[in-house]
Amino acid sequence: MTSQSSSQINLAILGATGNVGLKFLEVLEKRKFPINNLRLLASQKSVGKKIKFHGKEYTVELASKDSFKDIDLVLASAGGAISKELIPYAVSSGAVVVDNSSAYRMEKDVPLVVAGVNNHDLKKHKGIIANPNCTTAQLMPPLKVLHELSGLKRVIVSTYQSVSGAGKAAMDELSDQSTRYLSQGAYDSKSTNRKFAFNVIPHIDIFLENGYTKEEVKVIDESRKILGLPDLRITCTAVRVPVYIGHSESVNVELEKPTSKKQIIEVLKKMPLIEVLDDPTSLKYPMAIDIVGKDPVFIGRIREDASCPNSFNFWVVADNLLIGAALNAVRIAEELLKEELVKIPVKH
Ligand SMILES: NC(=O)c1ccc[n+]([C@@H]2O[C@H](COP(=O)([O-])OP(=O)(O)OC[C@H]3O[C@@H](n4cnc5c(N)ncnc54)[C@H](OP(=O)(O)O)[C@@H]3O)[C@@H](O)[C@H]2O)c1
Repeated sequence: MTSQSSSQINLAILGATGNVGLKFLEVLEKRKFPINNLRLLASQKSVGKKIKFHGKEYTVELASKDSFKDIDLVLASAGGAISKELIPYAVSSGAVVVDNSSAYRMEKDVPLVVAGVNNHDLKKHKGIIANPNCTTAQLMPPLKVLHELSGLKRVIVSTYQSVSGAGKAAMDELSDQSTRYLSQGAYDSKSTNRKFAFNVIPHIDIFLENGYTKEEVKVIDESRKILGLPDLRITCTAVRVPVYIGHSESVNVELEKPTSKKQIIEVLKKMPLIEVLDDPTSLKYPMAIDIVGKDPVFIGRIREDASCPNSFNFWVVADNLLIGAALNAVRIAEELLKEELVKIPVKH
C-alpha cells in the first residue's frame, strides 16, 4: 500500500440523494474506502435530509460553488448541467473529480475510464475524470479482450436498458404505471419515451439529425475513446425495457482474425471484471433479475454468427448502478489513490 492510499481523504458526493449517489455510499462502505471527512451535496429539495454511512448520520447540504473547500476528491452524479456549473469550482479549489454525467466525457483533456480496462489514461487527468455511460461501461471489458485477441472489425450492439438508468424518478414512474395499468387497463405518462410499464421503447435521450439517439451516439463515441480505436466500426440501437435495475445487451462482433468460441471463452474468463455464465444445456445465461447488486459483467449465449465469417454473438448483463456508475467511479478513485494521482495535503 502506498502512503497516499493509506491516507484518509476528504470526500464530497455531489448528487448524494440520487440512485447513483446512494450507490456510491454503499460501495464506499463495502470497500472500506479511506475517508476522513464526508460531505453530502444535493439540491435544495434534500437539504437537511439525514443519510447514514458507516453507522453515522450525515446531513445533506446544498451544493454550491463554495461546497468544495478542503475537499480532496469529489464523486459527482447530479446530472450534466450541475456538473458543468459546479465541477470547475471543485477543480479550482484543488479537488479531483470523478464525474458520472456526460458533461466532460468527450473532452480531449478528460480521461474517460473503465477501471481495469484503460487505467493508463488516468495519469493524463487535469482534475476531472469521466465515468462512461452505463451502457458503454459494461460493454468495454469484453470488447477490450476480444480486440486484444483477434482485432475488432465491426461491432453491432442492441441494448435492453433498465429504467434506473433514467434515475430514481423513472423507477417510481414504472411502479406507478404498472399499478395503474393492472387496476385500470391504462396509464398516463409525461411523454412517449416514458411509457415504461408493459412496453419496449426504441428511444433513449434525444433524437439527432442522423436518426440516431444521443444515447446510441454516446455508446459509439465513448467506446472508441476508451478502447483507443477512433475508427472502430460500431453501431448501436438503445432500447428501454420495463426492468428496474440491470442493463442487457445483445452484441455481435466481427473479428479480424479467425477465432474459435473456445479461445473467446478462455480470454473472457481471464478478465477479472467478467463472469461467463454460458451453459444452454442447463439453461444458464445471465438475466437482469439475477445480477442486481453483483459486481461483475456477466456474459452468456456466446455463439458463432452463422451468417458471417469470424463473427460471434453474445449477451452482456450488468448492474447499471454498479459497473455502469458507482462501482466504476469508486474503483477509479481507488486507482487514483494507489497511483498517487489525488493531491492530498499533508495533515499535521
Ligand atoms: N443511473 C445510471 O445507471 C447511471 C449510470 C451512469 C451515469 N449516470 C449519470 O449519473 C447522474 C445521476 O443519475 P441518477 O440515476 O443518480 O439520477 P437521480 O436518481 O435523478 O439523482 C440525481 C441527483 O442529482 C441531484 N441534483 C439534482 N438537481 C440538483 C441541483 N440543482 N443541485 C444539486 N444536486 C442536484 C439530486 O438531488 P435531489 O434529490 O435533491 O434532487 C440527486 O441527488 C446522471 O448524470 C446520469 O446520467 C447514471
